[in-house]
Amino acid sequence: MPEKKEIIDFVSEKNAVIEYSAVNLIIEQEINYKTIIEEILKKDVFVITKKIIEEKIVLESTKLPQEKKEEIKVKNFSPKAEEIESNYRILEELNVTNQSCSEGKIKDFVEFFRDKFFSIEKMLKERGMQNKPLSKLKTVSKNNEVELIVMVAEKWKTKNGHIAFKLEDLEGDCIGIILKDDIKLMKESERILLDNVIGLKAVKGNESMVIIKEVIFPELPVRGFKGSERDVFIACISDLHVGSKLFLEDSFQKFVSWLKGNTENEKEKEIINKIKYLCILGDNVDGIGVYPSQFKELSIKDIRKQYEKFVELVKQIPDYIEVFIIPGQHDAVRYADPQPAIPKEFVKELYDKKNFHFLSSPGWAEIEGLKVLFYHGPALHDLYSSVSFLSYSNQAKAIEELIKKRDLMPVYGLKRPYIPEKNNYMVIKEIPDIYLGGDLHNNSFAMYRGTRIISCGTFQARTDFQVQQGHIPTPGIAIMVELKTGKIFEKDFYKEEKITEKESE
Ligand SMILES: [Fe+2]
Repeated sequence: MPEKKEIIDFVSEKNAVIEYSAVNLIIEQEINYKTIIEEILKKDVFVITKKIIEEKIVLESTKLPQEKKEEIKVKNFSPKAEEIESNYRILEELNVTNQSCSEGKIKDFVEFFRDKFFSIEKMLKERGMQNKPLSKLKTVSKNNEVELIVMVAEKWKTKNGHIAFKLEDLEGDCIGIILKDDIKLMKESERILLDNVIGLKAVKGNESMVIIKEVIFPELPVRGFKGSERDVFIACISDLHVGSKLFLEDSFQKFVSWLKGNTENEKEKEIINKIKYLCILGDNVDGIGVYPSQFKELSIKDIRKQYEKFVELVKQIPDYIEVFIIPGQHDAVRYADPQPAIPKEFVKELYDKKNFHFLSSPGWAEIEGLKVLFYHGPALHDLYSSVSFLSYSNQAKAIEELIKKRDLMPVYGLKRPYIPEKNNYMVIKEIPDIYLGGDLHNNSFAMYRGTRIISCGTFQARTDFQVQQGHIPTPGIAIMVELKTGKIFEKDFYKEEKITEKESE
């Protein structure tokens, strides 16, 4: 590591000067300063500024390797999936791409919450709820039972230790109380968060007050996994973070090579044979300026070049595989949910290929007759900070909570921003057969009321931030789902382990 004086002396020997902040940047980035400074000075520069060094670093980082990787060809491998027709349909009405119409005005927020209320009210009514409008609550006599469908506006603990809620519907409001002696409901109260739409069975108290006796969530019907008719597989990966110094390119290349049949293991060959779909679940590139110290952690410091590299990598996936890609917080789309698909300008070559499909997050598609909900997963962070029985180590369990409430927005007004779209894309309006997500960089699974939940890991090594947080990712693992049964298989390309079948629940 050069010392500051060494760099300053080097520049002054060449009859130039360098800004102090530029010297610091050179040291921080651990770059070969002699070559870079000599190249800069060739252009008749007298004062080397921090900006000049930054531009030079970006330029150097974006020189993609010219050598073309040798195409891996496996003899005598003609997968069955290549012979069969694809069977999928993108549910355009549930994808925000090209349909965003919010101006962020009050009327948009009103529509956003109205759509959520009506959608979830309908689900609760289908579960048999007979709701009493809050404007008519005064007509109910004291101590009579009443059923309500409400949105939670406020929540607090009373001085006597009860939990109180301000509850609203479209025409009125009331106060709901969970009594502190009702141990079961007190426990349940933790999962009731602001702006949740829920059903209540209650007993009328004084004026506009009710004592809550039962909380009813919109839920999924109790059912088993539907399963596809054909014996095909989906492969799932997530959080590649191309452009990060920690992107595991080698593991990714091994995954692509494996998809092309490169394995001696007969069981694996049998599965590869049936992989007809691949889902990539967001954070495809590392992005630029996503967090304060990111610049020095990037191997490619230009967003367009990051996508160029991403395209170069994923276009190696065999053409007979239909590839679905959603964005994450690191991608070049708006940060707030719902996020539209990654625009064509960044990944044109893939848009031009027939087998690549860019969806929004959340987004929906029907694959082999199964409804698949794609959501990268950033809203879940607000859920972990609000509910003590959920944790980062089991994302699938937290996803169950969202599905139970049929709402991907667990709470409004905390860290995660939302665009108030008239059509509230965060509400889980269909019944998903499969939920696919990413974001937390570790794999977890669940089967909840017939919905196969998969939270995918990453192809990025453990970051300093994750070390500080004590968070352990599961890098370099692809997940394969047998669509007929919902069974899950994992193949680790980082540790280079054989495929394993996971417990289904
Ligand atoms: Fe990520």
